[in-house]
Amino acid sequence: MSDLRQARAERTVQFRKDRFGMFIHWGIYSIPARGEWVRSQERISNEEYQPFFEEFDPYEYDPKAWARLAREAGMKYAVLTTKHHDGFCLFDSKLTDYKATNTPAGRDLVREYVDAFRAEGLKIGFYYSLLDWHHPDYPAFADRHHPMRGNESVREQEKDKDFSRYLAYLHGQVRELLTNYGKIDIIWFDFSYDEMKGEKWEATKLVKMVRELQPGIIIDNRLEGSGDAVGSIKTANPAFYAGDFDGPEQIIPPEGVVDVLGDPVPWEACLTLNDNWGYTAKDHNYKTAEQVVRGIVECVSKNGNILLNVGPDARGNIPEESVAILKQVGKWMQKNGRSIYGCSRCELEKPEWGRYTQNGKYIYAHIYERGIGPTAFKGLAGKIKKARLLSDNSEIKVEKPWNAGEYSDYAFINFGSTTLPDPIDTVVELELK
Ligand code: GLC
Repeated sequence: MSDLRQARAERTVQFRKDRFGMFIHWGIYSIPARGEWVRSQERISNEEYQPFFEEFDPYEYDPKAWARLAREAGMKYAVLTTKHHDGFCLFDSKLTDYKATNTPAGRDLVREYVDAFRAEGLKIGFYYSLLDWHHPDYPAFADRHHPMRGNESVREQEKDKDFSRYLAYLHGQVRELLTNYGKIDIIWFDFSYDEMKGEKWEATKLVKMVRELQPGIIIDNRLEGSGDAVGSIKTANPAFYAGDFDGPEQIIPPEGVVDVLGDPVPWEACLTLNDNWGYTAKDHNYKTAEQVVRGIVECVSKNGNILLNVGPDARGNIPEESVAILKQVGKWMQKNGRSIYGCSRCELEKPEWGRYTQNGKYIYAHIYERGIGPTAFKGLAGKIKKARLLSDNSEIKVEKPWNAGEYSDYAFINFGSTTLPDPIDTVVELELK
């Protein structure tokens, strides 16, 4: 294995055990409440966007409650948008006035997040947008995402722009974030496009600084990639800044992620609970707890993590629907977490009735379909030492039914009831001999 691929595998050992994290998209865009791309989508100028800065007063922001919710949901880490594409900073950066400290909120909201999540035992991640629609040196007129793209009124200003000043700002802010808040576990850069990628961000220098300031940190792949481009992380010789994990967006990769040499690449699917990252008042298209649980299981069964998003509102509250779903997910995780944490793809192929995850000699059968008659485990005849219902550790008998003589390759259990104990996902722990 190349050194970088080896280092990536080693750095991500704990990350790949943790499996489940909370993504938090929060900023002044929670006031217009039409998602974090609202400035770009509606081509809102700095002046028109300014009232939201002046109004931002999340007087119910209670990061301890967020952190408790995350822990109770079974999440092991969190990633907060310290700055999104609109350039607004939730942290007290010395390099800008465009920060929470100068809004009615009047303080460093990142600091409180870090303290609260750390106190609940979660690992700390920072999302940082490479794009910046507020910084005067970020290209606007010809940039295909910028709110002022193609706008004649900004054309004149382009020639006075100096991208190196923006780079100094970006690097300086990352330095602040990785210096002022203690140990940071993950940095999540977002995102690269067109010629805005890799060394355009001075990525080698940036990654060197990141690793110097936070030796144990893991870095996503978007200094080169985006939701629709992975960069060089899957090649035999990834770039220095290719990142430690791939971040598929709003999709679970059908077969997980492997590199060209067939080795697994660490990955984390980032997914929204409804259809938006940033708070969107009219979006009530929430996934069910069942979908979420099965999504987590699917990721783990394909060697991946899941980063599940919440978009708190302008008062600082995580939407009620999200809270309700996460509580239900937490109930399941509390009983069945052993089938998730530290688990990976199973050596057996995907079964008919659900999915498998595995941790060493323990195989976890995630049973979604009761079917009729005994439940069959292909390839496990004579190999199971014990079977237990994971949620209460009660014994489940592995028996060869009288009528199964023809199916010698299979082990069988019989639930003895016509319904499954847990309709979301009934987990049977199979301890191998
Ligand atoms: C996209 C979007 C962004 C969101 C991110 C999360 O790249 O630009 O709004 O933060 O995905 O993965």
